Amino acid sequence: MSSSAAPVIAIDGPSGAGKGTIAALLAERLGWHLLDSGAVYRAAALHALDSLADLSDDAAVVAAFEGFAPRFEASAEGVRVWLTDAAEEREVTAQLRTERTADAASRVAAIPHVRASLLDAQRSFRVLPGLVADGRDMGSVVFPDAVLKVFLTASVEERARRRAKQLKEKGNSTTLAALVKELELRDERDANRRHAPLVQLPEALRIDSSGLGVDEVVQRIIDVHERC
Ligand code: DC
Repeated sequence: MSSSAAPVIAIDGPSGAGKGTIAALLAERLGWHLLDSGAVYRAAALHALDSLADLSDDAAVVAAFEGFAPRFEASAEGVRVWLTDAAEEREVTAQLRTERTADAASRVAAIPHVRASLLDAQRSFRVLPGLVADGRDMGSVVFPDAVLKVFLTASVEERARRRAKQLKEKGNSTTLAALVKELELRDERDANRRHAPLVQLPEALRIDSSGLGVDEVVQRIIDVHERC
């Protein structure tokens, strides 16, 4: 069997819906590989921020991608990422999770050329025995032949509460109201961009994780996958 035949479960949804946690646990339960595509966009954003003060000039952002060569490594705490500057590799895992990086990621992700240049890197994660991929366009663009497509969502208040908890654990703090505003802005940008917007596909299994436990969500996906 060629690597392109490896089955994919695609999990798409808005920021903070719990995709990362659910995808990691699901991959572990199935013994499959994991692609956190948001980390690919965050690494791209960090690379652009390193050389540009302003991300509003699309042509400058695209030009900054010359020499972009991130390295990813799966770890128990999530993905670890390294960028190369002047032939020197440096780890950027800690910077990946800040709100500044998330905001920049949402901006560079709206540029079609950036999205196209990241396709091969994302598809290279597709290896046997299978891949759980989470993001915004996993089922619509990157892996349209996924065996199962999940649209994972939650109310914006619930997502903001989860994000606040994560940030606090990492020593960053912000108010709930500010997080709700940031999430709404990012949702709006991700859903309304012209290229590969966040959409709920008609064939996707919709799960609203508000009030549901992580294990409950993972079990629901496994049950549906076993029936596929
Ligand atoms: O999932 P995340 O919060 O780590 O993603 C960061 C940003 O990257 C998000 O605002 C939108 C963008 N993104 C995307 O456009 N497509 C993906 N497949 C994954 C993330």
